[in-house]
Amino acid sequence: MRIESGMNISSYQDALAATLETSKWEHIPVVIFEQPKIAAARVAREIADLIKQREADGLKAVLGLATGSTPIFVYQELVRIHREEGLSFRNVVTFNLDEYYPISPEHARSYHRFMREHLFDHIDIPATQIHIPDGALAREDVVAGCARYEKAIAEAGGIDLQILGIGRTGHIGFNEPGSSWRSTTRLIHLDRLTRLDAIKDFQSEELVPRTAVTMGVKTILQARRVVLLAFGEHKAEIVARAVEGSVSADVPATYLQQHENGLMVLDRAAAGGLTRIRTPWLVGPLEESGMAWNDLMLRRAVNWLAQQTGKAVLKLTDEDYNSHSLQELLSQHGSAYEINLRMFREVQNTITGWPGGKPPGAGNAPVSQPRPLRSSSASAYPKRILIFSPHPGDEVLSMGGTLLRLAEHKHEVHIAYQVSGSGVVKDEVLQRYLDFQQRVSGTHADGNAGHAAFLKAAICRAEARAAARVCGVDPDALHFLDLPFYEQIGGKYRQVSGEDIAITVRLLAQIQPHQIYAAGDLADPHGTHRICLEILTAALQQSRKEPWFAACEAWLYRGAWAPWPIHEVDMAVPLSPAETACKQRAIFQHESSRHQGPLFGGAHGEPDKLPEDGARATSRLFDALGMPDYEAIETFHRWELA
Ligand code: F6R
Repeated sequence: MRIESGMNISSYQDALAATLETSKWEHIPVVIFEQPKIAAARVAREIADLIKQREADGLKAVLGLATGSTPIFVYQELVRIHREEGLSFRNVVTFNLDEYYPISPEHARSYHRFMREHLFDHIDIPATQIHIPDGALAREDVVAGCARYEKAIAEAGGIDLQILGIGRTGHIGFNEPGSSWRSTTRLIHLDRLTRLDAIKDFQSEELVPRTAVTMGVKTILQARRVVLLAFGEHKAEIVARAVEGSVSADVPATYLQQHENGLMVLDRAAAGGLTRIRTPWLVGPLEESGMAWNDLMLRRAVNWLAQQTGKAVLKLTDEDYNSHSLQELLSQHGSAYEINLRMFREVQNTITGWPGGKPPGAGNAPVSQPRPLRSSSASAYPKRILIFSPHPGDEVLSMGGTLLRLAEHKHEVHIAYQVSGSGVVKDEVLQRYLDFQQRVSGTHADGNAGHAAFLKAAICRAEARAAARVCGVDPDALHFLDLPFYEQIGGKYRQVSGEDIAITVRLLAQIQPHQIYAAGDLADPHGTHRICLEILTAALQQSRKEPWFAACEAWLYRGAWAPWPIHEVDMAVPLSPAETACKQRAIFQHESSRHQGPLFGGAHGEPDKLPEDGARATSRLFDALGMPDYEAIETFHRWELA
């Protein structure tokens, strides 16, 4: 198996050849690239080649286009090819997949506007050749409008190449689960998960449209070529179902398996759920797929085997390894006993009650090697610890117990809230505070939109201070960064600027941390956590030469979307029942964001799910491996800064 990393591939053929051995699992051709930008550039090149070919044949090229975050790089690359290589779009006809309904074409979040901003305003396509479903039709005209859309596609000679993204429901276009393969352009009700994912664009769930007009599954499958792109860890689960699952209306993207000229273009993160990546030993010898039995792979395999067999690590036998396609691993290590012991010790060494390291003289058992292995700042005590929390609340939710411990061990704990969090406070919560203010002071607060965002941010701040007190953290050690990218939400699409990075660099210089904790939630469907990590990474990059940097140790925590798989855990902090209860009290201080599914209800917004359940579930996983049975465990992945 090959992961493409360079731009020097003339076609997908090389990469596709590698998929042959995986055809038992994969029912559609898949190519995997290391980076989304490179994947997108390959797709843009295919589009450019098609446009040129059709022009040479004296024909128009008919493109089916998608919106959303996924195809943005493709459009950027097409604009570049147009500007730098002179590719003309005069001969191109486009049909977009979908549009929210009802929505005006001028609305900041309409797909009409999206397409203008990302593509059409920057190329030479005649306006008459652009087609996007009309989100502004009167309700009684929608059915006729959809029929006209189908007719226009047919009159253009059908779609030559259709670009698709995939939603976490498995939708293509807005064909949500339950869509028939015979469906054509129509009005559809959006799935709740799709609407939750769209909060990033519309600010609150209530503002996300409930319906949309979308091309049907049949419309899409009639295209002569279909290319689906998916990037990011948050797509890994649904991509695996689309590629490896059986064809079903439950996951409309599986219909693409029936297309004879379909392709999935993935980055490595989105491909993470495929058998060849997740459990490559099932596909064949690792070496043949360009992989090796390193420490991480060993931990992944043994953890998987323990789950498959329902056994604790130390109880796995040679037969277990043999019968689960792990003969290769077995022969390398000689016996199950050797592998088991190694895995057991490695996992055991991740467990520590001293996340900041032991202060001199603490504890009585001398440890030959501090657990987990520490950087050169290990002996510094007390440490300056800087915890980055994307929104107020993420830190207590994901590492509230560790926070308690760090404060209890008398480290100097600072918490930096990267965004204001104003977007998660509902209007009704603000209204409650305004009523309160009017009651006690007799004054009316200014409720205009700009001021409302300020007041909502103030509510988040007050709650963060309350939670800090519960955890024993000095409220004066809280830093509200209010990164500007987050505030652009109502206007342009979020873009990181130098200012976001400069603010972060200044804080790092001020604190000079020995230890950093940051959210490594790469599966965050809203993107805020991913953007926050991107900013912190850039800020750390700029701070490399600072004297504190070399000795600084960094850990990534994760929230509700996708916890660290056990094999990626480098530090595990166990919590007692009392600490778990205290953590819950801290989390509940953030009551204004309690309606936020992703914050309080797990990945799918289950409102009844308790916030501390994640750490309890992790503890059960450790227990199943044969580790001590704790009330809860918070886990961290080492972030190599060097
Ligand atoms: C957009 C569309 C949708 C998106 C999908 C993924 O025109 O039809 O199917 O492709 O929801 O969205 P992103 O790319 O934002 O993750």
